[in-house]
Amino acid sequence: MIEKFPPITSKLPVFLHGGDYNPDQWPAEVWEEDMRLMKLAHCNAMSVGIFAWARLEPAEGQFDFDWLDRVMDMIAENGGVAVLATPSGARPAWLARKYPEVLRVRPDRQRNLFGGRHNHCLTSPVYREKVRIINSKLAERYANHPALAVWHLSNEYSGECHCELCRAAFVEWLKRKYGTLDALNHAWWTAFWSHTYTDWNLIEPPSPIGEMAVHGLTLDWKRFVTDQTVDFMRHEIAALREFTPDVPVTTNMMGTFPGLNYWRFAPYLDVISWDSYPMWHRGDDVALASDVAFIHDINRCLKGGKPFMLMESVPSATNWVPSAKVKRPGMHALSSLQAVAHGSDTVQYFQWRKSRGSSEKFHGAVVDHVGHEHTRVFRDVADVGMKLEKLSNVIGTTVRPDVAIIYDWENLWALDDAQGPRRGDKGYLEACKRHYRAFWERGIPVDVIDMEQDLSRYKLVIAPMLYMLRPAVDERIAAFVRAGGTFVATYWTGIVDENDLVILGGWPGGKLREVLGIWDEEIDALYEHDRNAVLPCADNTLGLAGEYELRDYCALIHPESAQVLATYKHDFYAGRPVLTVNAYGSGKAYYLASNPDDRFLRDFYGALDAELGLLHSLDAELPHGVSAQLRTDGETRYIFVMNFNAEPVTIDLGTTTYRDMLTDETLSGVVTLGVYDVKVLVA
Ligand code: GLA
Ligand code: ZN
Repeated sequence: MIEKFPPITSKLPVFLHGGDYNPDQWPAEVWEEDMRLMKLAHCNAMSVGIFAWARLEPAEGQFDFDWLDRVMDMIAENGGVAVLATPSGARPAWLARKYPEVLRVRPDRQRNLFGGRHNHCLTSPVYREKVRIINSKLAERYANHPALAVWHLSNEYSGECHCELCRAAFVEWLKRKYGTLDALNHAWWTAFWSHTYTDWNLIEPPSPIGEMAVHGLTLDWKRFVTDQTVDFMRHEIAALREFTPDVPVTTNMMGTFPGLNYWRFAPYLDVISWDSYPMWHRGDDVALASDVAFIHDINRCLKGGKPFMLMESVPSATNWVPSAKVKRPGMHALSSLQAVAHGSDTVQYFQWRKSRGSSEKFHGAVVDHVGHEHTRVFRDVADVGMKLEKLSNVIGTTVRPDVAIIYDWENLWALDDAQGPRRGDKGYLEACKRHYRAFWERGIPVDVIDMEQDLSRYKLVIAPMLYMLRPAVDERIAAFVRAGGTFVATYWTGIVDENDLVILGGWPGGKLREVLGIWDEEIDALYEHDRNAVLPCADNTLGLAGEYELRDYCALIHPESAQVLATYKHDFYAGRPVLTVNAYGSGKAYYLASNPDDRFLRDFYGALDAELGLLHSLDAELPHGVSAQLRTDGETRYIFVMNFNAEPVTIDLGTTTYRDMLTDETLSGVVTLGVYDVKVLVA
């Protein structure tokens, strides 16, 4: 079956390559030169107008589009397209001065001064009206412009506002959710510390000078912040849709940014995009590469496998990290093509031309202060452009993995709020990334989804620390296992419901106890320096042997219908189960009661791979630091093979003959991957 998504824009059905372009920071003479350089850099997509509100509307109701007309014309004349932004990410000073309500109020209830970005109330009717006007003007003016390809909504939506307007909106949101105060008081467990609310208007958003300890409140506030941001975004989209119903909309997200649940944004966007700034050459690049792949995979999954946009990345040094290390030769192409491997149909940068002033003047850019094309970074960018030109057939393809890992924002919020079994960060994201790495190392593609997605297409679903169970999640997991799926859960699973109320009667809650066949009686949280160990049982079905290290958490469980595969080595619970498996329907459910070392995860998932015959991107043994990732239309397989080692390695491709799309070389048997090398193999 052929499965191919349409290109991001029908105006230019090739890989988009380009970046944030701020001509409003430069005199018009520079623009001609930018166009010359754009072609030399093999760039074809410029993101414009992102922070241009003050230039577009220098005084209230006075608009100046002449400069943008010229820029849009020049982009089109030079064969490119524009990713045109709505300017709501930063407001002009006159707007803030005249209408103070547009400025954000901090959690301590103090109103900010003008300045910065993301410093606006998303509820303010004045702000929404001003945004509607400028968005409508842009959409009306450029609706039929040949350069207009994609709308870039605002920029990296984030943050929250604690003004009176937002408080009132929160109360309305709560009324819609709970209907009655009794329901809210129960869900929030407000008898605690005499918090019972007798009037809706007594409710205040969480604040360090007020209440932070009512977890139902803090959780609902985070949900409200997401919903209010989505509502604001939909308000932005409505103004655009009126004039440009067919131009796709996106907003640039920030990976696993904890403040917003991106799954709530996805239904309203035509295409997903994100900004990726990994700190290469700082520590273990191999582990980092796997972590970045994990985030790319979230972005691919947000719209069911549809290709996404790498909206921002840096051509060389990032300015906001502790040390702005430049990318070593080869790393730019490798990290750009890694995004493509995992489903991006663009490679874009922040930014095109390096700023002359203000805080981003040393942030890497395609065109440096020297102003010409004879730089290492410029050549690297042009090289990526040429590589992308060879990969046009990959556009619109995706991957349908056999494995899914559940990473869920609401689960993160609830987990990290809890004061137990540790305070603060519970290591949830880290755990998900570590389970992911065991597959990345083997070149087994993975979907990264939240707990509400359909599980039926997978063979193996892994849900590390699924602390919160939203309604019906346990039922869907049960149905998945019953139908023959394999499920892996860990310590600290099924503890609270969607309101962060502890599930009574024994963990894991809901159907999961029956699915996993265990009862989790208590959990021991270890100190940083504490270790325990796993001892696999003799003749365990997974063939595990020897001993593996454990840290952080040790759950003390009782098998009910499950079979014990491994036990604890130390402490008063030595000999008690740490790994179990339960046959349930036609499937199996594993429970891992502690946090094991990477070697264990590798062996454990290696055994499950052997048993389940999981889809691999490449039929070959991958050396350490090499990853393989498949994109396919269901017929032709495009296999990206990437070496994240700072040294060459060899890989045995066996008897199959492949062609490398980047070099046109024919490859089989043992081949060498150079330092940071990428090959795109087709059989
Ligand atoms: C973010 C923003 C950009 C720019 C870059 C710099 O991703 O979206 O406007 O500030 O950071 O890294
Ligand atoms: Zn507000």
